[in-house]
Amino acid sequence: MKTKIGNDVWIAKTFLEQGELVSIPTETVYGLAGNALNENAIAKIYEVKNRPRFNPLILHVGSISELRKYVLALPSPLEHIMDKFMPGPLTILLPKSSLVSDIVTAGSSKVAIRIPNHPLTLELLRNIDFPLVAPSANISGTVSPTSAKHVYLGLNSKIPYILDGGDCNIGLESTIIGWDEIVQKPILHRLGGLSIEEIEDYMGEKLIQNIQHTHPETPGQLKSHYATKTPLYLGNIIDLMPEFLNKKIVVINMQEEKPTSVLKQFILSKTNNQNEIAHNLFSIMRQADELNADVILCEYTENKGLGLAINDRLRRAQHILK
Ligand code: TXA
Ligand code: MG
Repeated sequence: MKTKIGNDVWIAKTFLEQGELVSIPTETVYGLAGNALNENAIAKIYEVKNRPRFNPLILHVGSISELRKYVLALPSPLEHIMDKFMPGPLTILLPKSSLVSDIVTAGSSKVAIRIPNHPLTLELLRNIDFPLVAPSANISGTVSPTSAKHVYLGLNSKIPYILDGGDCNIGLESTIIGWDEIVQKPILHRLGGLSIEEIEDYMGEKLIQNIQHTHPETPGQLKSHYATKTPLYLGNIIDLMPEFLNKKIVVINMQEEKPTSVLKQFILSKTNNQNEIAHNLFSIMRQADELNADVILCEYTENKGLGLAINDRLRRAQHILK
């Protein structure tokens, strides 16, 4: 199959109506989309991504009124948060309505749903009469794509069309929150492109946290994820260097190059701006990987704001956790 790249929403719509898969741009990462009401299309997504069947898919819709059809009920504090942050890098996890197939949720009674904030994809969603399921458009376990080119490198010849909406603004997958029935409060399931501080400032209280690694409620929280082929080690670069004498080293710095000679050094943000770090992270991880070095050394960013999600993704990419 030949994979075309273009920005024609009508072509994307036609393929999706035929049950084919299309990669779609979002503000977080590119998605691999299929008709969420077509079980063959959903099955193709698992196949193309080589995704374990136990890992459920996020439903993408164009509006909150559409979203309502696919959940049993919307607790009003969650609705309040959704009104503020949707469309945007926020996914909600709630008990599903009968319209959502068990293949979408991998058998779970809850469904994850979001409204992506990208003009092309919103236009697409508002012109089709079904929701889309869309995991990140990468082969399972590899770094998520933040440009049409990244998608092409991984999925060339496996899908007919990539809707090119430019580089993803945010660059980290959406933040997932659900509803804790017992305490009747919102609960965090995955760190992501919307910082918890922003949600908490708006709520006026702390979010309950539910980030587990062994038996996660969101299987994408499994430790080994988003990995480069070149082993990546995290920590203080200068302290890590002696461990890799005579090795070809690539360094990913947050703000400044280190006084050391290595194959190449990257900088994620010269002004140490976390939005910029997030925006560049996956792209620079890929560029570092392409240099065929022996190791990639990378440092942590400050553990606050988007930094929590940035450090989370780096930890999952880390070699020693595999
Ligand atoms: O920003 C995003 O969320 C991107 C763009 C394309 O929208 N999508 C994305 O999808 O990151 P994916 O499949 O790569 O990650 C989805 C995460 C996984 O960790 C999955 O386990 C979790 O959401 N998830 C989806 N449905 C779920 C459900 N019903 N119950 C628990 N976790 C769920
Ligand atoms: Mg993913």
